[in-house]
Amino acid sequence: MDTLSHNNAYDHNSQAFSADITITERMDYYSKWCRSGDYEKDLSKGGTYNGPIIAGEAISRLYPDDKNIRILDIAAGTGYVGEELRNKGYHNVDALEPSEGMLQQAIDKNIYKTHICDILGGTSVHINDDEYDCTIVCGGMGEGHIPCSGLNEMIRVVKPGGVVCIVMREEYLFTVSEYKDRLEPLMKQLEDDEKWEISDRIIFPNHFAGKSGVLFVFRVKCDGV
Ligand SMILES: C[S@@+](CC[C@H](N)C(=O)[O-])C[C@H]1O[C@@H](n2cnc3c(N)ncnc32)[C@H](O)[C@@H]1O
Repeated sequence: MDTLSHNNAYDHNSQAFSADITITERMDYYSKWCRSGDYEKDLSKGGTYNGPIIAGEAISRLYPDDKNIRILDIAAGTGYVGEELRNKGYHNVDALEPSEGMLQQAIDKNIYKTHICDILGGTSVHINDDEYDCTIVCGGMGEGHIPCSGLNEMIRVVKPGGVVCIVMREEYLFTVSEYKDRLEPLMKQLEDDEKWEISDRIIFPNHFAGKSGVLFVFRVKCDGV
């Protein structure tokens, strides 16, 4: 990728993750970004942006033989993770995504069974307890994105014994005010409370634009929180 497009990707992404805009403005920004065709240009999968590939590989390591598991792709965007999962044979995948424009592009790809236009954090999403074998979030954690309270929802909608996967930019653990000194302590607290146990915390290179990422994998222990 040349320097100009690398900078565009970085600028557009920084605006989406700006601390200075409202939720509505952020969702509109995502809708405009993807409708212009630039989202998938800026965040080229396997080029600037590798998180979705890491996410798909993590799930196929966890469930190598069971392609029927029910998976919820949280913050599904235009469907990058769904594409990876479909290519690996998973066909029972739903999408949750609050930006109408992003969700429409995911719908147009015809890779998800159900499309839920909703936002994680705050009140409960309209999904029953224990509905899924696995949830995956990739790129949905960051400034103004999924708050710490979203972890409780991830646990609530996953069956006991199921898996919660989170792929995010590593530095956000320390630079995002919502997460700094809060996100990992909460992950640990949920482990102490026997809501889940951590199976993996893996740092990997080049999640987005040369920035390293972190993959978390948790095994859900109890029925809801
Ligand atoms: C950088 S995109 C990642 C999309 C997709 N997972 C990917 O890897 O291409 C971040 C997505 O998170 C969504 N998002 C932001 N805040 C959210 C929240 N609180 N709950 C669910 N999704 C959210 C945005 O609408 C956007 O589509």
